[in-house]
Amino acid sequence: MPARLQCDGYIGETTVLTKSNTLYHDVAHHIRKNGINVILGEEGVCVRDYKERTYIDALSGMWCVGRGHNDGGLIEVARAQSSTSSHCRIFSDRTNHSAVRPSIGLIELAPSSFAPAFFVNCGSEANDTALKLVWCINNARGKPAKKKVVTFDNAYYRSTVDAANLTALPHVHQAFGLPLFPVVRVPTPDARRLRRPGETDQQLIERLIVQIEETILAEDPETVGAFLAEPIAGAGSVVIPPDGFFRRLQTLLRRYDILLIADEITAGFDPSSQMSGSESVGIAPDMITVAKNLPSGYLPNGAVLMTPAIYETVALASGTIGIFACGMTYSGHPAHCAVALAYLDRYSVRGLRSRVRALGAYLRDRLQPFAEHASVADVRSIGFLAAVDLVPEEAAATGPEPTGAAGRRLVASALNRGVMLSALRDTIVFCPPFVSTRHDIDVMVDRFALALGDITLERVLRRTPD
Ligand SMILES: Cc1ncc(COP(=O)(O)O)c(C=O)c1O
Repeated sequence: MPARLQCDGYIGETTVLTKSNTLYHDVAHHIRKNGINVILGEEGVCVRDYKERTYIDALSGMWCVGRGHNDGGLIEVARAQSSTSSHCRIFSDRTNHSAVRPSIGLIELAPSSFAPAFFVNCGSEANDTALKLVWCINNARGKPAKKKVVTFDNAYYRSTVDAANLTALPHVHQAFGLPLFPVVRVPTPDARRLRRPGETDQQLIERLIVQIEETILAEDPETVGAFLAEPIAGAGSVVIPPDGFFRRLQTLLRRYDILLIADEITAGFDPSSQMSGSESVGIAPDMITVAKNLPSGYLPNGAVLMTPAIYETVALASGTIGIFACGMTYSGHPAHCAVALAYLDRYSVRGLRSRVRALGAYLRDRLQPFAEHASVADVRSIGFLAAVDLVPEEAAATGPEPTGAAGRRLVASALNRGVMLSALRDTIVFCPPFVSTRHDIDVMVDRFALALGDITLERVLRRTPD
């Protein structure tokens, strides 16, 4: 067991290892020029790089290591399970004991009545599978035209072909010539951007619902199969919808026989301090997709939860065809599911949830004062899911600064201050490991404050004539 990493003592420049050609990377062009930092290990809320510098991890990996890094208990569960069963498929004539138990755990924690979980390996596969379930059941119900999906205009569902197709971000489509199939987009329920002067939450909700209904009618409800949404948008730069929006949306969708799929991949288990974002916004979706925190980031895992009615329809359809031909070699992998079960157990039984509730309020109290800062446009949070919108840099002599430049500068500065943050364009996002202490949150926020000071000073200097 390595000595416990301390994140407190960090000071210094983050330099990078030069030109790595050994592993493909999403920003290969950048690495060729600037090199890349190599991480050697993590523990708790800390990350250690190849120069033995430690950083505090304010986004729990990629919104996934809720249990904290390098937890001996979870590692031991994976080891013990692997020594009993290293692989057992969950296809055709068999399943495995390890997969059955987290499936039950998920059903117990879910916000409404759900059938057994369908295991996949990641969030993109979970969303792909949910889409195939919609197509399958509408074919089975004799409604083959009812296949279009409605999503928000900031939707982010990630990397497989279908999930990328459903994503609304141009850079996710551009290189690949996506979309391959049309997706119906409606405005994200983001009151900050959409509220008209003097409009109340209720009026805003009604206006959005009318707009969504008109869109559905224009498409023809008989061609619309599902609405896929993050109830609390994480990757969509932490959007907390006005209270009541999703309940109204669900009522509308039921009127037109359109399934509601809640993507809980970022917000499940739950930064928002409930089991799910669906619970936070008071809805009972027809399907829920989960991943990331399900195995606490330790091993690949994801799942689709579906209502018993959907399960029955799919079971009938697979009876006709002979199989529901969808699944992967590692679906329901014994070690991956054992870790998921251990995580679910710790999450609910051992109090991670109540911890997130209590410390989420502390994180909010620490971040809220930045709303007054000259470089900050907005601060918002729910539980451990928090966002700070930076004011984009003013137009410079060379023209307006591209969106995302302020975010990139802050993240770079924060790294040099010893905190790993992430930016979604100019929004800085926080989702600390659920095991964070008050002290850890103080360290994260204090270092963020230093980085904010750095970019603010840079701005002032840029504007000051020589
Ligand atoms: C909201 C949302 N859905 C789906 C995904 C895809 O998850 P994965 O990266 O596990 O495929 C992500 C990943 O960031 C996400 O944020």
